[in-house]
This record gives sequence, C-alpha cells and structure tokens, in this order.
Amino acid sequence: MSNQKLTAIILAAGKGTRMKSPLPKVLHPVAGRPMIERIIEATFGAGATEVRVVVGHGQNLVRQVVEPLGATCFVQAEQRGTAHAVLSAGVDQIEGDVLILNGDHPLITAEDLLGIIKNFRESHADLGVVTCEMDNPGSFGRVVRHHGAVKAIVEAKDASKDTLKIKEINTGIYLTSADVLQELLPKIRPLNQQKELYLTDLISLCIEDHRKVEGLSTHQDVARGVNSQSELAQATQEVFKRKVSKLMDEGVIVLDPSATYIEDSVEMGPGCVIYPNVFVRGKSKVSSFCVLEPNVMIIDSILGESTQVRMGSYLEKAQVGQKCLVGPYARLRPETQVGDEAHLGNFVELKKVKMGARSKANHLTYLGDAEIGEDVNIGCGTITCNYAVDRKKYKTKIGDRVFVGSDTQLVAPVEVGADAIIGSGSTITKNVPPGSLAVVRGDLRVSEGYAERLKKKMEGQ
Ligand code: UD1
Ligand code: CA
Repeated sequence: MSNQKLTAIILAAGKGTRMKSPLPKVLHPVAGRPMIERIIEATFGAGATEVRVVVGHGQNLVRQVVEPLGATCFVQAEQRGTAHAVLSAGVDQIEGDVLILNGDHPLITAEDLLGIIKNFRESHADLGVVTCEMDNPGSFGRVVRHHGAVKAIVEAKDASKDTLKIKEINTGIYLTSADVLQELLPKIRPLNQQKELYLTDLISLCIEDHRKVEGLSTHQDVARGVNSQSELAQATQEVFKRKVSKLMDEGVIVLDPSATYIEDSVEMGPGCVIYPNVFVRGKSKVSSFCVLEPNVMIIDSILGESTQVRMGSYLEKAQVGQKCLVGPYARLRPETQVGDEAHLGNFVELKKVKMGARSKANHLTYLGDAEIGEDVNIGCGTITCNYAVDRKKYKTKIGDRVFVGSDTQLVAPVEVGADAIIGSGSTITKNVPPGSLAVVRGDLRVSEGYAERLKKKMEGQ
C-alpha cells in the first residue's frame, strides 16, 4: 500500500486580494522562502511521486519558482472555485492516490502529511477530509457530522447561525483516489451563494454514491493559512520559533529566542552563542562554539569552530576557518575564504579574497580579488586597487609573512613576495620581490620654528 502512487495537487490560482500586494500570494516569503516552496517540499518529503500546481494569477512568476523544484504547472484561466481548480489539474491522467492541498498553508510539514496519509490509508476510505478543532473557526468551512460520520462541509458564507457554532473545520486538505475525482468532480454544480464549484461538495457526492468518507483530524498549524500580511508575519515567526527551539534542544545558546532569525535550512553546531537580532540564512553552516554577536547577517556562508563574528558584520557566500575573529562591522563578500585564526577587524571589506591562516587585517581596509598568504599583517587603511580605468578587475598577490604598513595602496595587477615589508603610505605599482623593503614616499621637509614665524608675520600685517 505504501508504495502506491501519490500525486499532490496544490491549489494556487487565487489572487490573494487581502495580501494587498502585487506579488502572487503563494510567492510571499515565509522565513526566507516562498510559501509554495515549503508546501512543495513537504509534499515531496511525504512521498508524493508527482506534484501538480494549479496556477492562475501571476502564473508566469509562480511557474518560475515551482518548476525548478520539480512541480508541474496547470493553468486555471478563470477562478471558478476549488473543485474547478482541481479539474484544471488534468485529473484524467492521474492514477493512484491524490493529495489535495492549498498553496497558502506554509506551516505544513512532511511529518504532518505523512501522519495524514497513514491515517487515510489505514481507514480504507474513498475520501479523507483533514479537519481540526478551532476556538475561533472564522471563515473556515464547518464539518457537519451525523452520528459521528462526516456528512458535509458547509462554507461559513453559506452557513446558518447554528452551523457557524461548529468548531471542527475543514483544513482544505483532502486525500482520495484518482478514480473518485474522475467520476465525481464533473458532477459538482455551483449551487451556492458564491456561484462557485466547491470541492467540499465532493463529500455529499461520495456519500450518495455509497463511498466511504472519513474525517482525518490533525493539529491547528496545518490549517493556518496566510491571507493577509499579518498572517504572513505570524507564519514567519512560527517557522523561526520552530528552528530556534530545535537548535536550543541541540545545545545552541540563544539569548533571546524571539529575536533570533535562523532559517530552517541552516546547520549550527552545539555550544554556539547567539545574541539578539542575528540572521543566519540559506545554506549557511555554523560550526560548534561560534559566537554571533548582535545584528550579524550571515548568508550562505560557512564558519569553522570557535569563530567569533562581532556586532554588525555582514557575511555573504564566505568561508571562514576556525578560531577567527570577524568584525565588529566587517563585510565579507562572495568568494572569500579566510584561513584559521585570521583576524578581520572593524570596517574591513573582503571580496573574492583567499586569506591564509593567522593573517590579520584589523582596521579600515578593502581587499578585493586578492590572494594573501599566511601570517600576513595588513596595516590599517590598506587598499587593493583592483578596478582599473579599463573597467576590468586585476589581482593582488601577497606572500606569506609579508608586512604591509598602514595606508598602503596596492595597484593591481601586483605581487608582493614572501617576507617583504612595505613602508607605510606607499603606493605599490610594481612587483616587490621576496624579502625586500618597498617604500614610496616624498622626502620629509622640516622647517623648525615655522609656526612662530608665521604668527609674527600675520600680526605684522
Ligand atoms: C476553502 C474551503 C474551506 C476550507 C478552507 C481552508 C472550499 C469551497 N472551501 O475555503 O472549506 O475551510 O479552504 O483554507 O473549498 N483556488 C484556486 N482556484 C479557485 C479557487 C481557489 O486555485 O478557483 C485556490 C486558492 O488560491 C487557495 C485555495 O484554492 O490556495 C483555497 O481557496 P480559497 O478561496 O482561499 O478557499 P476558502 O474560501 O479559504
Ligand atoms: Ca483561504
């Protein structure tokens, strides 16, 4: 039974009017990723062999996001209701079990779906309707039962006062078989106030046809749809909260879980210390015992063990070794690789730089398109001039143990050999051989007593 084919149909053609946003609703990000991406991932994770997404509003944009994830798009040109949306997904060419769900319930996980699918298969029902209890059922469809069995779902808009009091609601998730959809969907008629084809009418049609309908109960988060910006923010907070709880269970030290923003794709080792307002995004890996101080942003970056990223630093697609010190206020841009025990201090920017172990650039420095060896000291205010008037980028190479004095400009392409020393204030335009001293300075002129003479001259006027 478990290796039966399972096709998921995700309904995502609606406009999402209440979002008041030009972006199609299902593309709004929840904790860094479009909500539809989360749902597609959950359905594949639960064993769906095929995922079909019904698109309408903003279909071109939605397509660009969902197709690379392995889903197929089906266009519903006119939004004539949820049953019409399912019909648009080409149900005639489907075999086996079908899971139907909404594209705007981003808190669903693969584990939730696996539980629901298991219950459905064990029930041997023809149609499983996933339901849950809610204290304030609001606009959800109400589940009407008779002697315990599900008889119908009544939309809030079409419900009587008594029906509105029912607390069991329809989550909008269904499990059935392709046969049921092929036979019964075409029989649904728009006999309601909205003049829409309601998928929920499948229940009464199944019952009339002597097929078994089962209510499959789940928890409230599964039903939490996003219909407004406020609900979107709540969903984002919930996803961050889940991640931070999981990390704390694994031994990460978090000062303020409500002000910690670690995306669920991030890996983090035990013993890390996370200060408030830290963002860690994408495919980042933070090894054990790292310290991330307040207002740090880390995107798609890898940190070795016991590295400290101090306040206000911004790392993007960078790799940093073990026991490094980064920041405060450092910026590591893409393709940067920093060796173990390196120090990068305040207002230091690195782009496309390979820096060796124990090298230091502690203050006010720009290093771009550079290869820097081990044990190098980059003095305060050093600049690699990597961008030339021909609008091309050139490379700077600095060997092991080089000492670059403060306020040096390295005009690329240029190489400084191992153990060389560069005097402060130099503009280096030619290669410096290993072990040599390079200084570029005007002669120092000292005029003793000058200030006194100047003062007298001005008084005499
Ligand atoms: C629907 C259910 C309701 C349930 C609720 C759960 C029906 C009639 N009602 O109501 O019982 O409690 O979901 O959230 O099914 N969509 C399309 N094409 C359409 C219409 C809708 O793709 O023509 C998509 C929407 O983009 C959305 C989903 O289907 O993702 C649900 O549609 P929506 O209009 O939000 O249904 P509800 O009124 O919330
Ligand atoms: Ca809805």
